[in-house]
Amino acid sequence: MHSEVEVFAETLDRLRLDVNKALESLIQDELNLGAGEVAREAGRMLNAGGKRLRPILFMLAYRLAGGDNDEHAMPLALAFELIHTATLVHDDINDEAEQRRGIPTIHATSGQAKAVIAGDWLFVQGFGLGGRYSAQIVDIIARCCANIAVSEFHQLDHVLNLATTPEDYFSIVKGKTAGPFAAGCQAAGLIAGLSESQALGLERFGMELGIAFQLVDDLLDLRGDERMGKPRGADVHEGKMTLPLIHALTLSHGPHRQRLSELIEDFSDDDFDELMALLDRSTSMEYAELLVRTHIERARAELEVFPESDAKRLMLHITEYVMNRHV
Ligand code: IPE
Ligand code: IPE
Ligand code: MG
Ligand code: MG
Ligand code: MG
Repeated sequence: MHSEVEVFAETLDRLRLDVNKALESLIQDELNLGAGEVAREAGRMLNAGGKRLRPILFMLAYRLAGGDNDEHAMPLALAFELIHTATLVHDDINDEAEQRRGIPTIHATSGQAKAVIAGDWLFVQGFGLGGRYSAQIVDIIARCCANIAVSEFHQLDHVLNLATTPEDYFSIVKGKTAGPFAAGCQAAGLIAGLSESQALGLERFGMELGIAFQLVDDLLDLRGDERMGKPRGADVHEGKMTLPLIHALTLSHGPHRQRLSELIEDFSDDDFDELMALLDRSTSMEYAELLVRTHIERARAELEVFPESDAKRLMLHITEYVMNRHV
């Protein structure tokens, strides 16, 4: 007898392996066609071992929605992983990040010009797969990609803007991170045959989970975690206004508020303990953690209307994983 946890782990490993195999052979096919360095560089990042959270989730959403032919959903799941990796390549240029998925970023090894093109190459590979579906699905994917760009612009305009509000933050997070989770779940539901309104339930699930995911990513950036494959504190160096900082700036007064703004405006790694102590004073990490739990609960509630299934249990398990990643 296998415990439920073992069965979960087996199914998730199987899905991750299938995704990895398909992505490796996609790169190999391109290399065989003579794509050369751009495919090698893009492939190096694509296959450096991301968590594959999005494609796994979308395959499960497809099954939850009654889909019974994984082969029909796999190109969609891969499309989102390719697009996700494309955004990471571009994000790392803008964020001047040297490390991603535990390896040097493409711009660090090959220069910015090639990294921009490698990111475009990954985007196009994603659209090649996503474009196999109906116009409705292609629209969903295109809309979500357009929204990533809108939010990344919005975020750039808020760099070091100490007046950034929680509303600004959530609007950026919805566009850049949660939107793709939402679009992938919705599209998976639609290709499995859900009605538009049922698929919107999955869209809301993805949005809530995606918000929690980015909140946790932002908490982990402050706490530091070697499993992240990217260095601690990158967000503060970048001047990115994440929720714990926004919250602390709102709650702090006088000299504490003054010191906090100085630290944010000119941060160095030696300032970490002082920054964390100031965030502690206003319990700003706890505030963000509370919101993680709220969004996870909302995500879980969206699944209630779906019949019990292994896929549903696994999706609930993933919500737990996302919530507990930072503890
Ligand atoms: C990183 O995403 C970008 C964010 C939205 C925070 P992941 O943490 O899913 O990155 P990989 O795919 O596992 O590398
Ligand atoms: C997510 O934001 C990036 C994208 C959606 C492209 P981050 O800038 O926080 O991602 P990391 O922390 O570098 O992975
Ligand atoms: Mg970044
Ligand atoms: Mg970024
Ligand atoms: Mg981050």
